[in-house]
Amino acid sequence: MPKKILVLHGPNLNMLGTREPDVYGHETLDGVNASIQTKANELGITVDCRQSNGEGELVTWIQQAHGDSNAIIINAGAYTHTSIAIADALRAVGLPIYEVHLSNIYRRENFRHHSYISDLAVAVICGLGPDGYLHALTAAAKEAT
Ligand code: DQA
Repeated sequence: MPKKILVLHGPNLNMLGTREPDVYGHETLDGVNASIQTKANELGITVDCRQSNGEGELVTWIQQAHGDSNAIIINAGAYTHTSIAIADALRAVGLPIYEVHLSNIYRRENFRHHSYISDLAVAVICGLGPDGYLHALTAAAKEAT
């Protein structure tokens, strides 16, 4: 069975391409997911890319990854900085977590400097734009059992 990686995009990431392009670039979410799929094909792994604006839906998908996926790559958007529920779900499933942000959150407002996810993550990749997902995928494909 090929490794399966769940890739989660949180709130407002459906607006990539038009949302603050000076911060997040011009690539759409469909474009980002297409690059992730291409990389997954190269690596011989399966990916399931999903986006939700809802905290509860993200929690449900994380729970469902238990026994179904080998690792989770997550850009939780603003929930990164606020959501104990998402952090608890990630902790509960016990899968390797890779945290991705398009922007370098440490060069931005103070409220973006704290992440509830980072201390659960194998790695945090931020500031590399959509390439961050591809680096996370490469690492997850190597490490996940
Ligand atoms: C983000 C950074 C977050 O602070 C912000 O709320 C987002 C996107 C990023 O990818 O850079 O929605 O996670």
